[in-house]
Amino acid sequence: MSIEQLAETALAMVAPGKGIIAIDESTATIAKRFAGVGIENTEENRRAYRELLLTTPKLSDYISGAILYDETLRQSTKAGVPFAKHMAEHGIIPGIKVDKGPAALAGFPGEVVTEGLDGLRARLEEYYKLGARFAKWRAVINISEDIPSGTCIEANSHALARYAALCQEQGLVPMVEPEVIMDGSHDIDTCFEVTEVTLRSLFGSLYEHSVVLEGTILKASMVLPGSTCPDQVGVEEVAAATLQCLKSTVPATLPGIVFLSGGQSDEAATAHLNAMNQMGPNPWPLSFSYGRAMQSAALKLWSQDLVGNLAKAQQTVYERAKANGQAALGEWKP
Ligand code: 13P
Repeated sequence: MSIEQLAETALAMVAPGKGIIAIDESTATIAKRFAGVGIENTEENRRAYRELLLTTPKLSDYISGAILYDETLRQSTKAGVPFAKHMAEHGIIPGIKVDKGPAALAGFPGEVVTEGLDGLRARLEEYYKLGARFAKWRAVINISEDIPSGTCIEANSHALARYAALCQEQGLVPMVEPEVIMDGSHDIDTCFEVTEVTLRSLFGSLYEHSVVLEGTILKASMVLPGSTCPDQVGVEEVAAATLQCLKSTVPATLPGIVFLSGGQSDEAATAHLNAMNQMGPNPWPLSFSYGRAMQSAALKLWSQDLVGNLAKAQQTVYERAKANGQAALGEWKP
């Protein structure tokens, strides 16, 4: 696999006015989302829900790629077309979540390290054959009184770098996701400091592991006050802080940065992205890779009538994609 091909995929992922839809919830996570709206967590319901999302008419107007979970990459539409084939035929790049989730970091209460490196080379080789062209690995950085520790940040950066190098070896673009978690009462300055240290460590590790930045995408969390911080701040402040943090840590050779929504409201996730693009020009395209902020409204509608509301739910997915696609250009109007 040539660097040129990886770079081409990476650039296509952040094509102007387009972003990623994250639908890579593990079976345990989708169980929670389904339980929230009263849907039974069966394999057929998971398949039908992912079909709803992936067959949204004209989705590729605003969506360049979708991140799937292992089970979904092996599933097909009701008509029997493998999802990856359907996506490729409709201009959507198939992506795959390859980490095995966070596990407690021994000796560091409250901190976690993402697992999944063992056997990863063989899994990536299979995912490529199944049609995936990019992969995602999420590290979780929690903020509390005495955390994160440097040890936790380094352990996660090291795992992200090893994963990214393996992805490039196997022809997949790594989407590296160090998520600084919003939960907590910390203020925006604390989030800034933690995000800065985390990104600095990550790009140091990527360099040490010879990861080619031209064939890598960063999935970043925004710089925000904790969800229970009494000092909430405005859209412009979040956008300015996030941009400042990224500019001081992320090399300009990176083809693009996409954001996770992380528990922000649909509207806030769109408004923050829009504001950052309005403050440009920036060194890289800034777009979205939202999960909840792309899906929540559609899932709620679908849960009320799995057959009757299908088209309405798809319309909602399209509208969320359109709003975020416009925000990726700084052209969204509330
Ligand atoms: P949210 O946008 O719901 O945070 O999900 C994005 C994601 O893929 C987290 O790994």
